[in-house]
Amino acid sequence: MYSEKVMDHFTNPRNMGELDNPSGVGTVGNAKCGDIMRIYLDIDENNVIKDCKFKTFGCGAAVATSSMATELVKGKTIEEALTVTNKAVMEALDGLPPVKVHCSLLAEEAIHAALWDYAQKNGIEIKGLTEPKKDIHEDDEEEEY
Ligand code: FES
Repeated sequence: MYSEKVMDHFTNPRNMGELDNPSGVGTVGNAKCGDIMRIYLDIDENNVIKDCKFKTFGCGAAVATSSMATELVKGKTIEEALTVTNKAVMEALDGLPPVKVHCSLLAEEAIHAALWDYAQKNGIEIKGLTEPKKDIHEDDEEEEY
């Protein structure tokens, strides 16, 4: 059911934890399954993501997608981080079962929420970033998938 990569990131998650004094923090939940994901970003003066951590209270696929998402955004600029969509995370994990697609959406939205928080704190605008949702519903999934 799950790819080897999903199992690897689930059993051995990368970047789990939190950051002291993060540049931005984003928290997103899914009311339907009750899962919550929080992403912490450390962004330097050149707008490069130096470090990224996550805390996920959720299913195994949510843990695996958080882990992969943090790996993918690390070292990227804030603009490049916007290319880390749920599809990109799923591809990097060699796919997810259809019922688990919403888990990867949490990762995308949590990154966006953390970037949004960073932009708000610094009074900047990130091109292509709109205010993220706090909660992902099924309807949103269909729209974005
Ligand atoms: Fe909801 Fe995975 S079941 S995030």
